[in-house]
Amino acid sequence: MDKAASASHPNKHLLITGANRGIGLALTTLYLKAGWQVDACCRDPESADDLNALTSTFDTLQIHELDVTDHAAIDALSTELASREFDLIINNAGYYGPKGYRFGGTDMDEWRKVLDINTLAPLKIAEAFHGQLLAGKPGVYAALSSKVGSMTDNTSGGGYIYRSSKAALNAVIKSLSIDLAPQGIIAVALHPGWVKTEMGGPNALISSQESAQGLFDVLAALKQEDSGKFLNYDGQVLPW
Ligand SMILES: NC(=O)c1ccc[n+]([C@@H]2O[C@H](COP(=O)([O-])OP(=O)(O)OC[C@H]3O[C@@H](n4cnc5c(N)ncnc54)[C@H](OP(=O)(O)O)[C@@H]3O)[C@@H](O)[C@H]2O)c1
Repeated sequence: MDKAASASHPNKHLLITGANRGIGLALTTLYLKAGWQVDACCRDPESADDLNALTSTFDTLQIHELDVTDHAAIDALSTELASREFDLIINNAGYYGPKGYRFGGTDMDEWRKVLDINTLAPLKIAEAFHGQLLAGKPGVYAALSSKVGSMTDNTSGGGYIYRSSKAALNAVIKSLSIDLAPQGIIAVALHPGWVKTEMGGPNALISSQESAQGLFDVLAALKQEDSGKFLNYDGQVLPW
């Protein structure tokens, strides 16, 4: 474990999905460096070379196999991690689906797949790990959404699949923030910026490290009254 960093957050515990690449990997690295215990989930741990490499530096990292569309696997992981007290759960796994299609060309099977990953999974994970989040004194539930899911931000149309999946995710987060408020659980939707990852592409504006650092700072500063907000990686409140 990185001893110096661990001194700052000795008992903090994070669960994150899609931790093998992109923003998820950058967040996992950052939280480990800050001394957190991290349960990092990915679909194929065997091929997750960058994530596996972190285990040689951090004994505070545990890697778990999880396809977020497999609800039985989510329940099984929750049972396996029943004694955890999560200060933070980051639902990061996401899928864009087809790009460049127009009105009239929507692939309905791909839409269902995107909804499964971006919308259904985040609520399923919140439900399955509710007990561990509650035990996290209580914890924060954060979902990587996207500005593309904002109604206000939609001035260019199109993108039916991804936009609708993130707009519906935002509705999930808003309801979680209301339903779980009496228990002190904070729920937020986060926009990571336009990030240079496989999803964001090479023309994106910021690196995954820059995005992760911004999200880390935003999450560290959260207060109960921030629950139910849609927050940019620089802390700005975004319109739904
Ligand atoms: N990049 C951007 O500009 C941007 C902007 C706005 C929002 N976001 C959101 O930020 C999050 C992370 O995006 P990213 O740019 O890092 O994307 P990315 O590089 O494409 O990585 C996506 C991650 O999600 C995982 N994933 C996909 N389907 C999964 C499933 N069924 N079960 C478990 N994991 C699954 C991938 O795992 P595999 O390696 O196994 O495929 C990968 O770890 C997403 O929710 C995305 O929608 C990104």
